[in-house]
Amino acid sequence: MKNLLSMEHLSNEEIMMILNRAQHFENGGNPVLQREFHVANLFFEPSTRTKTSFEMAERRLGCTVIPFDAEFSSTTKGETLYDTVKTLEMIGIDAVVIRDKEDEYYNELLEGIGCAVINAGDGAGQHPSQSLLDLYTIQKEFGRFEDLNITIVGDISHSRVAKSNATALTRLGANVRFLCPPAWAGNFEAAHSWDEVLEDSDVIMLLRIQHERHSVSKNFSKESYHAEYGLTIEREQRMKERAIIMHPAPVNRDVEIADALVECSRSRIFEQVRNGVFTRMAILETILKGRDQYDNSYTKCEATQ
Ligand code: NCD
Repeated sequence: MKNLLSMEHLSNEEIMMILNRAQHFENGGNPVLQREFHVANLFFEPSTRTKTSFEMAERRLGCTVIPFDAEFSSTTKGETLYDTVKTLEMIGIDAVVIRDKEDEYYNELLEGIGCAVINAGDGAGQHPSQSLLDLYTIQKEFGRFEDLNITIVGDISHSRVAKSNATALTRLGANVRFLCPPAWAGNFEAAHSWDEVLEDSDVIMLLRIQHERHSVSKNFSKESYHAEYGLTIEREQRMKERAIIMHPAPVNRDVEIADALVECSRSRIFEQVRNGVFTRMAILETILKGRDQYDNSYTKCEATQ
């Protein structure tokens, strides 16, 4: 695996290998890396969890983390993402973790870049490391994916988490359903009432409304969204006995989930954050371990010859 760009590029076998490796790290296992690697985290959109989690994973693998501050980088002077990443490569960076507001920003890095690229979120496209940590959380809970009813609730069409998880979970045999306001279903077929999905769901995965990706506001007040699509205390009481609540966070309390449920016994929201470090260690190790087998001396001129 040279890069991690989209869940669509991973086979079920590759997914399961990463989850097994995450388990190895959670159990206290050591990484197998042949040398010290240099990694930079390029976040052009806000992040608390993903950025810190990647940085923790990099440090636990013994990597050197080279600071990169998007706000003070030369991208603000008009430098392209390609030139930025190429520059970091020439300085000696082995891998870049990137979050950007453009869908598939990584396409411009596919030719001519020798650094490994790990996608930490591309616009409303994909968020593969979040998906892998979600899969790890579900696997730890149920020991399988087959025949689980997994309901993803909220701003489906603007959510990279929904898309990455829908792809992977369906392929792994889960029954993925969606619940959202009709305008946010995108290409998915979605239920529009909790009654259709609440009582037989094994996993309820809530999503934040992606206001930053809306061209026009859908005019939901916090209260009306919570009443119609939020996980209220009353709804939580109707969930199946062993069913769990997930949310990639950041959470807006009392909007997509009642304040009192964020840390209730069914909630895995903070457990997901914890699992994220082991999963990202597994992703980074898999990519870095294979790195020296690629020819990284490739330049754009050679690519066009
Ligand atoms: C998500 C993201 O950035 O896509 N957050 C995360 O990485 N944990 C979800 C969101 O912002 O709502």
